[in-house]
Amino acid sequence: MKTLERLGILTSGGDCPGLNAVIRAVVSHAVLTYGWHVVGIPYATRGLLDRAMMPLSLHGLDLKGIDPLLTMGGTILGSINKGDTLSRIQEVLDGYAALELDALIGIGGDGSLAILNQLATQGNWQFIGIPKTIDNDVACTERAIGFDTAVNTITEALTRLTFTAASHDRVMIVEVMGREAGHLALHSGIAGGADVILIPEISYSIEQVCQHLAELRDRWGRRFAIVVVAEGAHRSLESANQSCEAIKCGMGQYVANEIAKCSPYPVDCRVSVLGHIQRGGIPSALDRLVAASLGKTAVDLIANGESQKMVAWQNGHAETVPLDAVLAKSPCSVDPASDLVQTARALGIYTGK
Ligand code: F6P
Repeated sequence: MKTLERLGILTSGGDCPGLNAVIRAVVSHAVLTYGWHVVGIPYATRGLLDRAMMPLSLHGLDLKGIDPLLTMGGTILGSINKGDTLSRIQEVLDGYAALELDALIGIGGDGSLAILNQLATQGNWQFIGIPKTIDNDVACTERAIGFDTAVNTITEALTRLTFTAASHDRVMIVEVMGREAGHLALHSGIAGGADVILIPEISYSIEQVCQHLAELRDRWGRRFAIVVVAEGAHRSLESANQSCEAIKCGMGQYVANEIAKCSPYPVDCRVSVLGHIQRGGIPSALDRLVAASLGKTAVDLIANGESQKMVAWQNGHAETVPLDAVLAKSPCSVDPASDLVQTARALGIYTGK
């Protein structure tokens, strides 16, 4: 087993619920099992440039015995999702050396993990990555930290919107995050009882959306509907002109405008853009569980002298994957032939062609 003086940990990219739970798991295991010192690097690689660190001790935020890290959203270390790291590589490497870190655990999405992996190669760092992102688009892992909580948040929003939609016979268009991946829209749309789910990976037509809404009404007497639209769904529109228009006015608003134009009967649409609400809140039990397991496994990998690996969640437990293999594949999108897409269709949800 490796003896370490100082283990660094940082969070990089957009925040999400569960990051503090990972930090807690790493500190607990590193201190209790291995007796290491753990330091947090604030604001990701910016902290390395600034040569800044904060000591993290077990129950460091202890409030009368309560450890809030398990339940706190966001990240106590702060994060950045834009920076000039790649143009200042030598300064970052110098910062790492100045902080006298023996190893680093980085929690990030595929963009952050790629940058950290490059730094690890050039600086010969011992580095382990942990995947996080509400988009769930990191390859080689079934789950990234934060995804489950965001799905729950959207699902709750859909449930709330259903009642007001039904009361006023309205079509609620709900725009959700996810960048170029439709995982958030697909998972929450099925869980939240959506009638239409539009994602970047499957092409669709507004005419078919309108036909589906008309059928709901004419055949089943449904006078309201819930339409979940991924923010990146402009990618699967039929023409470049339509995509440009959707980017200009926002995906949710675009779909509302087009439904109003195409529908054979008058439709009263309302648009909800859930925005950063999806990144907030208390982490779900599943996110906390995955955070605990991935954090613990990352510390064990460091202890075993391993480097440039990512800990992944596969079939209900933590696995280890070389970062190069992950980064060669990223990002991971929705497979149109997947069981979940087929399930949505089998339940009468329009998901495109
Ligand atoms: O990658 C996470 C994410 O929340 C995306 O779903 C979204 O497109 C983006 O980050 C928003 O970024 P920002 O916080 O910079 O607005």
